[in-house]
Amino acid sequence: MWSSRLAFILAATGSAVGLGNIWRFPYLASDNGGGAFVLVYLACIAVLGLPILLSEILIGRHGRQSPVNSLASTAEESGASRVWGGAGLNGILAGVLILSFYSVVGGWTLRYAWLYLAQLFGADPISDPAASFNGMLASAGTLTFWHLLFMLLTVGVVALGVEKGLERSVKFLMPALFVLLLVLVGYGATTGHLGEAAAFLFKPDWSKVSASVVASAMGQAFFTLSLAMGSIITYGAYLPNGISIPRVGVTVAAADTTVALLAGLAIFPIVIAFGIDPAGGGPGLIFNSLPLAFNEMPFGTVYGLLFFVLLAFAAWTSSISLLEPGTAWLVEQGIMSRRAASFSLAGLCWMLGLLSVFGFNHLADVRPFGQDIMTFIGLISNDLMLPFGGLLIALFTGWVVKESILREQLAGLPQWLFTLWRWIMRIVAPLLVLMVLVNALA
Ligand code: PHE
Ligand code: NA
Repeated sequence: MWSSRLAFILAATGSAVGLGNIWRFPYLASDNGGGAFVLVYLACIAVLGLPILLSEILIGRHGRQSPVNSLASTAEESGASRVWGGAGLNGILAGVLILSFYSVVGGWTLRYAWLYLAQLFGADPISDPAASFNGMLASAGTLTFWHLLFMLLTVGVVALGVEKGLERSVKFLMPALFVLLLVLVGYGATTGHLGEAAAFLFKPDWSKVSASVVASAMGQAFFTLSLAMGSIITYGAYLPNGISIPRVGVTVAAADTTVALLAGLAIFPIVIAFGIDPAGGGPGLIFNSLPLAFNEMPFGTVYGLLFFVLLAFAAWTSSISLLEPGTAWLVEQGIMSRRAASFSLAGLCWMLGLLSVFGFNHLADVRPFGQDIMTFIGLISNDLMLPFGGLLIALFTGWVVKESILREQLAGLPQWLFTLWRWIMRIVAPLLVLMVLVNALA
């Protein structure tokens, strides 16, 4: 059990806030035309993300097991088949794919933290960030090393089951990251380009909206809230009764969204001020732009070090929650010990991650659907498997779970909100997800 409401919020926020907010959200906004993407994304958070977040917390708290078995036992109790546990397996599979590339990017943040630390001790500053970033991608050895280090940090925590200590650190390091983002927004304002950045992020150009833009926004909404993957169900299983699920859900979703928007407002003024095209920044966006600002800011090296250390930390608390559901499931099935399960899964993810690594160098010519391998794996997992998993969760809570269970778990929610939430689960979410998936696949 989490000791308190705050403990759950910290753990769930630790899972939610990560590379999705600070690395992925800004570059997706950049690649998908800015404002229109951001508004579709915000709508997806409100209409799909938050309601499904509540569903996952309630399934976890009712089932009190790993995601697969919480789903299966809740189904059984509601008179349905345990086959619903399969929705949890889809999540575990998506988690394996996500962790494979998440760890590669986590490795990038570790390497940048290292570069700034070295700089503090006299190493040369990153004078040409784009060249430096591309140089890193070209070196399979460098990427593999940092990917390995990040995966070891992740599996170490999961194998030992020492998550408790992490929650305590989340309490201090997350607010620190938040403050640092505010500092960067402040720096952005001094460049005089904050207004332009805000216009890029929030002024919609609807002509830029296509099926694939909507699919990316929806996929990102699931990804950023750690949905459809089992992470939130897992954490919900430790939530004491009597704590309001809607209240904690809203808090987590609001914190996550705030961090993403702040990241956007921190990065785009710098991008514009240094003459980079805000459109089409790609996965290198923050690595190509932020070092330019750190080179100019007073105490920039210290800020650079702090930024990448805190980002690596945020990525770490997320990757732990990616590895945990699969591990918990293997242990619960009696297949393996915790240590063996976590190391096997992490090893699998690490090897899969090598595909993403080589996609930037040895396999740069392999471009499935015109994308590099990492982007392609991200599309399959984030834009297809997560929405599909979300669809299953919505149908499950909307049509399968006994009403008495829903009422008990969502006690305190005003009747009209309960009804609204239920119809979102029954009709709105399934239809929206299906429409977007079908269009995107077409
Ligand atoms: N939500 C995390 C992020 O935004 C990523 C994540 C996805 C973590 C799914 C756990 C499960 O970085
Ligand atoms: Na997130």
